[in-house]
Amino acid sequence: MTDPGTDEAVGGARLEDGSEVGRVIVSEADLQARIAQLGAAVTADYQGRPPLLVGVLKGAFMFMSDLSRAVHLPCEVDFMAVSSYGSATRTSGVVRIVKDLDLDLLDRHVLVVEDIVDSGLTLSYLQRYLLARQPASLEVCALLVKEGQQRTALDLRYVGFTIPPEFVIGYGLDVAERYRNLPAIHAYDGPRH
Ligand code: IMP
Ligand code: MG
Repeated sequence: MTDPGTDEAVGGARLEDGSEVGRVIVSEADLQARIAQLGAAVTADYQGRPPLLVGVLKGAFMFMSDLSRAVHLPCEVDFMAVSSYGSATRTSGVVRIVKDLDLDLLDRHVLVVEDIVDSGLTLSYLQRYLLARQPASLEVCALLVKEGQQRTALDLRYVGFTIPPEFVIGYGLDVAERYRNLPAIHAYDGPRH
């Protein structure tokens, strides 16, 4: 199969409306290789205390799916959905819980699975929110961290890739709800809706 991200004729993924899909920032192969490493690290670190993986929707749905299969422990899985107030491509740090967790966190080893940390304000809010529920431990696994953008100190136990501070799409990440289904992370070359 041809990697859609390497098709130079369209400069990006082969989609009908592919003009907005820019160069590959992290390829599908690199994503999968790194996620296998992250899964192995989580498996080793959580021996004897299987984690509750908490995915942050919608962006983390694909990462959660791949990471959870790379963790060889009887872990639990839950999701929450948040939306941050602000424009489509700029976060305000004020977070609204759209869907809360189904499981109780008390005495569980919680590992938050996040798609991307930009300003870090969303995650910082979430960490405070989840800590108030008294988990036995709380750690974060973020697939992507944008270099030099964080406006708050964050303790990220696991990080997939540090990327340049530009807007990216694919592998769960959207612009106006599109492009989440791309298998790689791409730069976004279209208008900021
Ligand atoms: P933060 O609060 O600034 O760290 O932003 C966190 C959230 O904004 C992420 O969980 C994403 O949902 C979204 N986000 C930040 N940067 C990007 C991007 O480059 N592409 C798509 N979504 C992004
Ligand atoms: Mg997110």
